[in-house]
Amino acid sequence: MKNLTTKTHQKVVLVGDGAVGSAFAYSMVNQGLAEELAIVDVVKERTEGDALDLEDAQVFTAPKNVYSGSYDDCKDADVVVITAGAAQKPGETRLDLVNKNLKIIKAVVKPVVDSGFDGIFIIAANPVDILTYATWKFSGFPKEKIIGSGTSLDTSRLRVALANKLDVDPRNVEAYIMGEHGDSEFAAYDEATIGSKPLKTIAKEHGISDDDLAKIEDDTRNKAYEIINRKGATFYGVATCLMRITKAVLRDENAVLPVGAPLNGEYGLDDIFIGTPAIINAKGIEKVIEVPLSDKEKDLMAKSAATLKKVTADGLA
Ligand code: LAC
Repeated sequence: MKNLTTKTHQKVVLVGDGAVGSAFAYSMVNQGLAEELAIVDVVKERTEGDALDLEDAQVFTAPKNVYSGSYDDCKDADVVVITAGAAQKPGETRLDLVNKNLKIIKAVVKPVVDSGFDGIFIIAANPVDILTYATWKFSGFPKEKIIGSGTSLDTSRLRVALANKLDVDPRNVEAYIMGEHGDSEFAAYDEATIGSKPLKTIAKEHGISDDDLAKIEDDTRNKAYEIINRKGATFYGVATCLMRITKAVLRDENAVLPVGAPLNGEYGLDDIFIGTPAIINAKGIEKVIEVPLSDKEKDLMAKSAATLKKVTADGLA
């Protein structure tokens, strides 16, 4: 039974006030989510400037105490969102960032835990699946209290691309990108539906072949590079995914979202965080929804997991 009496005063701490963090903070203010938002970053002036700028938006959204904070503010926070880390540069893969960002995430997680924080971590720095796993290791928290942005952004990209081709609302495209948030991700087309009708059937009716679907999957996989090559970074899409996941936690929604979730035997995998649909509520990850993948997709999931496990082992050695 859902807990309909979630706390009236909710607090979120954002650690990392770069492009993604700042966009997330704006999204939280714009959506009127949480009564309190503390922004933490090594560049104090930036967090002070963002807080002063963001507080001017509340007149048109909802009252919010948004301020430049410190790790001490994590103590009574419901959610800590970590975006701190270097972003991909043109030509860089997400996995290329692992050594640099493992050091940063370790330096962030310790003071958060030391503050007495006992809420939910939401992680977005890249390579996000590995940094989500690292947050679990470094925090000592139960796995279900650590949520990675996973393939939430990739799934949004896939749904937008399919919706544009099929003339439907992207919110009604029940299709998922799964696996690594990265080059080994894949589209679980075999289980995808629109209005409970198989996506592949609808695609054929629109003259869209399996090759066309494969191209949409490839374009989805590479969309970040296209954005980075044009504007230097991506932030609005991922920030909105982070807001959506945060909302599911704060509102205790039991929402089904594609996130970076811990596997304990699902898909024949364990000891990994990877992109899959999961039920998200105030406890964090309530349950992984194990998609009934086809044999081909099971193989893709295993390959993606193997990529992550190798880099994780090297990076956390
Ligand atoms: C992207 C970054 C957030 O996919 O990894 O845009």
